[in-house]
Amino acid sequence: MTDDRPLRVETQGRVGLITLHRPQQLNALNDALMDALGEALLAFDADPGIGAIVITGSEKAFAAGADIEAMADLTFMDVTQGQFITRNWETIRSVRKPVIAAVAGYAMGGGCELALACDVIVAAESARFALPEIKLAMLPGAGGTQRLPRAIGKAKAMDMCLSARMLDAQEADRYGLVSRVVPDAELLERTLVLATQIAAFSLPALVAIKESVNRAWESPLTEGILFERRALYGRFASSDAHEGMHAFLDKRKPAFAHR
Ligand code: CAA
Repeated sequence: MTDDRPLRVETQGRVGLITLHRPQQLNALNDALMDALGEALLAFDADPGIGAIVITGSEKAFAAGADIEAMADLTFMDVTQGQFITRNWETIRSVRKPVIAAVAGYAMGGGCELALACDVIVAAESARFALPEIKLAMLPGAGGTQRLPRAIGKAKAMDMCLSARMLDAQEADRYGLVSRVVPDAELLERTLVLATQIAAFSLPALVAIKESVNRAWESPLTEGILFERRALYGRFASSDAHEGMHAFLDKRKPAFAHR
């Protein structure tokens, strides 16, 4: 029996793990995969037993981009009326819990954009990042032209978008595109350790931090600082925050209730 599900979903303690699985197409992102990814992300986000989510691919490819075969004959009307990208790729933006991308091999086009939409990127030494849409006379249309310059600055982003330049893991690390680089053989294990560490912290505090850091991307500094300060004041309504501070003073481990 063949298993044609485009992704695998499992849990490890408080971590939700999603593995993209279209090996024949290097995890090219089609509607079936992006619908399933959105569903899995929303399910983990709604599950109080989950504190962090990991998205990974295969050893060869995190994802080689939007599925070119599925896109090749679409018309302007198709993409406009069907809200291409907006309809299902953007679901990740509504996820409140931390999402970590574990990237080995190719993260190209939409695959690079999917990684950029995650909160933390752990790259294996083999990871390769590119926005090669220009080769197709297309453009990075899943947030790439917006998130990449915010992540690595205009000069590097223009170079990548206009010339299809591919970055290896070390370059991506140097430019601030990824959070950490690890050996390939340790990618999943190290990412799960990180996700487990994050997921053990107070969930409402994680959500407040994620919202606040994302504000830095999306608003002027004055607005961002105001948002951060309100988020900080909100922490004083959290029993976990009082527990965390008192545990420190009592020199004991905090017991978070995620409240
Ligand atoms: N869409 C559909 N199929 C893809 C694909 C994609 N993005 N990328 C790879 N595949 C398929 C190939 O067609 C091939 O299928 P067949 O075996 O049936 O021929 C299979 O996956 C393996 O690929 P290759 O033989 O090309 O593997 P390789 O190791 O020689 O090269 C690669 C790997 C450099 C990643 C190359 O596959 C490649 O350049 N892929 C396309 C990358 C790309 O252009 N991505 C951007 C897509 S557009 C986009 O993402 C728009 C957006 O912003 C939303």
